Amino acid sequence: MNRRIKAIISIFCLTAIILTGCSNMTNNNLSEGSSDDLLWWQKTNAYEIYVNSFQDSDGDGYGDLNGIRSKLDHLKSLGVGAVWLTPVYESPMMDNGYDVADYYAINPRYGTMEDMDALIKEADEKGIHVVMDLVFNHTSDQNEWFLASKKSRDNEYSDWYIWRDPKEDGSEPNNWRSIFGGSAWTWCEERQQYYLHTFASAQPDLNWENPDVRQALCDIANFWIEKGAGGFRMDAIPYIKKPADFSDGPVDDSEGRADIHKMTANTDGILDFLSEFKTKVTEGKDVFTVGEANGVSPDQLKYWVGSEGVFDMIFEFSHVNLDFKESETWCKTGSWLLTDLKKALTDSQKATASNGWYPIYFENHDKPRSIDHFFPGNTDPVLAGKALGTVLLTLRGTPFIYQGEELGFTNVAWDSIDDYDDLNSHSQYEIALSEGFSEEEALDCVHRLSRDNARTPMQWDISDQAGFTTGTPWLPVHDDYINENAETESKDPSSVLSWYRKLTSFRSEKAVLINGAYKELLPESEEIYAFERKNENDRIVILVNFTGEDVSYDPEKAGIDKAAGEKILHSSYEDIKDSAPASIGNLRPYEAVLIGR
Ligand code: GLC
Repeated sequence: MNRRIKAIISIFCLTAIILTGCSNMTNNNLSEGSSDDLLWWQKTNAYEIYVNSFQDSDGDGYGDLNGIRSKLDHLKSLGVGAVWLTPVYESPMMDNGYDVADYYAINPRYGTMEDMDALIKEADEKGIHVVMDLVFNHTSDQNEWFLASKKSRDNEYSDWYIWRDPKEDGSEPNNWRSIFGGSAWTWCEERQQYYLHTFASAQPDLNWENPDVRQALCDIANFWIEKGAGGFRMDAIPYIKKPADFSDGPVDDSEGRADIHKMTANTDGILDFLSEFKTKVTEGKDVFTVGEANGVSPDQLKYWVGSEGVFDMIFEFSHVNLDFKESETWCKTGSWLLTDLKKALTDSQKATASNGWYPIYFENHDKPRSIDHFFPGNTDPVLAGKALGTVLLTLRGTPFIYQGEELGFTNVAWDSIDDYDDLNSHSQYEIALSEGFSEEEALDCVHRLSRDNARTPMQWDISDQAGFTTGTPWLPVHDDYINENAETESKDPSSVLSWYRKLTSFRSEKAVLINGAYKELLPESEEIYAFERKNENDRIVILVNFTGEDVSYDPEKAGIDKAAGEKILHSSYEDIKDSAPASIGNLRPYEAVLIGR
């Protein structure tokens, strides 16, 4: 939709709101009903692009905006109506763009503002809205706001970041540990004070208590709406509000530090900041917001999304952080059961059943590949990719596909820590050594959890560098690209990609998969994830075998009514050569089936 049409719709809606007193466009009450009650972003599929790794158009080894323009048809083939780009702004790239130097400029590595305008326009013509990543908890230490702020204690920007004097002994103001490891404070010689950073020291936290900061951030978001953005992903949002009390927290590591997440995430008052943002930026406009909100539990969701909430959706982490029950560090992760995963997903489905909306995801650029994350090491990646893809594309909410997930990408396992680019992988490796793990064990944890697993270049075809670049890719292409690439998989009806295309197209035809209520079935099973989607006219039962064995279930207990004509509509085995027809009551290893009329 172009800007003019959006403006007309906004005026229309404003009039409707005034006349009817109905709520705004972005946060209506989203209970189950007809699909016509739902907004475009609730009926579509979203897709996350990690810009560095999607498609390189100029041979420098980095993905770019013109590369994305050349691949819009791939997104179209998956029914994608919203594409989230990781940050494309001017940045020194200490954290691949999550350290913004200028929110109004495009990183030359990715192209120009003209390229961005062209991308927004061309995507729009294909019915795809571009979603910008707003990194508003912190900036880069090269941002001109910070360069000014660090100069003195009494200039216009002095109070734009979080500065504190040292303790009496000259040490950091408190013992908080940053999310990437090490102290959350860095000393600034020039200003003779410490500044706070929730993440790396090159990412100083903004001071949201200062109204000028909040206004500057609203201005940036409005600039991007004017440019034609269709939505925002709000980075690291739980950390924007700091507590009044900056005293030491409970020590939980060998260096005497306390986890900053436990000290600052979701501090009381955060919702006031965010509702101000909603009022000044998104309210009444045809854009959606999705907050990255680690630590917001399903029972708090109602304050964050829905008619009274501050966002349209939030990415909460309960289902992707099951292994972090005991500790946040990578080598101290624990095990989990299928019932834990099912409970986490079911809790979120319930919490957004009648108010709010859920962004369904298993992968993003911060997580390992889901096939490795949710299945044991020896699992057939094609079957596992289809099994998880089935859940992703049939739960209630907006599916967020992460690049490569639709091709069944798996983790990498490079020989040495020096092969890894991600700064957090390096910190976590060091933390593991300090926790007493051997180099081999620490590397094993990096293999399992490194963010680089999800950041290897897209695999388009069997040509050199998988068609990603004509140059040397910034991160090596995965060895498996000969089998796992978009071109080969497009021609293979039994591939993960073909399954994604089949299910996204089925989802767009079957209203029940968009608006139907969710109910978990077989909740006790440690083998099968089963649930139903149901509306007034229709019902679909989804069953996914999470094991490598044949399993059987009682159709009656799974709520399947054969007498009423319910049958298997799709099986993830259906295009596998020589596979027998699927049967109700049985599932083959990792099989996913959709049952309905
Ligand atoms: C978010 C991003 C992550 C980044 C961090 C700091 O969690 O998803 O990639 O490193 O914020 O901005």
